[in-house]
Amino acid sequence: MRFLTHGEPGKHLDHQRHVKHLLSIEQLTLRDLNQILADAVTMKRTRGRHRSLPLAGQTWALIFAKASTRTRISFEVGVSELGGRPMFLNTMDIQMGRGEPIKDTARVMGRMIHGAIFRTFAQTDVEDFARFAKIPTINALTDQEHPCQILADLQTILEKRKSLRGLVVTFVGDGACNVPVSWIFAAAKLGFELRIAAPKKFQPSRAILKRAGGNIVCTEDLKAAARQADVLYTDVWVSMGKESETAARLKALKHYQINRPLVKLAKPGVLVMHCLPAYRGKEIDNETFEAHADTIFTQAENRLHAQKAVLKWAVS
Ligand code: CP
Ligand code: NVA
Repeated sequence: MRFLTHGEPGKHLDHQRHVKHLLSIEQLTLRDLNQILADAVTMKRTRGRHRSLPLAGQTWALIFAKASTRTRISFEVGVSELGGRPMFLNTMDIQMGRGEPIKDTARVMGRMIHGAIFRTFAQTDVEDFARFAKIPTINALTDQEHPCQILADLQTILEKRKSLRGLVVTFVGDGACNVPVSWIFAAAKLGFELRIAAPKKFQPSRAILKRAGGNIVCTEDLKAAARQADVLYTDVWVSMGKESETAARLKALKHYQINRPLVKLAKPGVLVMHCLPAYRGKEIDNETFEAHADTIFTQAENRLHAQKAVLKWAVS
């Protein structure tokens, strides 16, 4: 006699018509996006007393090739709180770090675990992993995108502003990195105005803008971008993997800082947001950071709730 545990990887998934992945906000339907945002609110309200545990009996791997505080903690806690077991794997501790191909690692994991949360460099690596593992796969940040961050940010804005309708979100800094790119797809999908204030070299590619559509304004004019904005948002000037460009980036981006004079140009009561980690005196000054710490750390907390909603969606 053979005992099947709930959610046995291979068998369980063979019966699923369609394995769900969150690789990019671009690929989420508007309906799924809204459902995840609604579930995130419920996850927050009912933390510690959830009615169902959608990951019961499951093991989820967190495969990380880059450092992380928020994403790792929120996923480890989130998987546990939904009844699953998180397994943290630094890529340098597994054979992937010694060159074992992603598609081989994926096929091994697909036979043993139920879902994967993958932080790495190339977006194509996460896509390949999902394709070969055939288990729900979540992008926990690549060089190109950071969808989980933006879901938590949207949850935070909705908590504080109730609606995204008519909103102007201004991103300041490296407008070509993962966080603004995921903002572009979210803005296009949800229909709010996104302004990206960045030097030409750090603006998103034409290809991304064309693919996304929507109302996205890219400009070098920081002040114009900040005027009457509802949200001012920034991210580090030197993303993980770009350390060799540090000097050039600090020089090119030095005026693209959120500070008191910039906040004054925005709407009264503007939300100042940061995905963290923050480098005070670089992309944001200390005074502005501390004045808006409640919003910024609510974003960090909402990583947990929004990602629990993603996990629930991924196995539904
Ligand atoms: N914002 C974010 O993803 O933080 P970590 O790099 O600490 O996970
Ligand atoms: N753009 C940053 C985000 C960190 C959460 C990076 O990739 O390092």
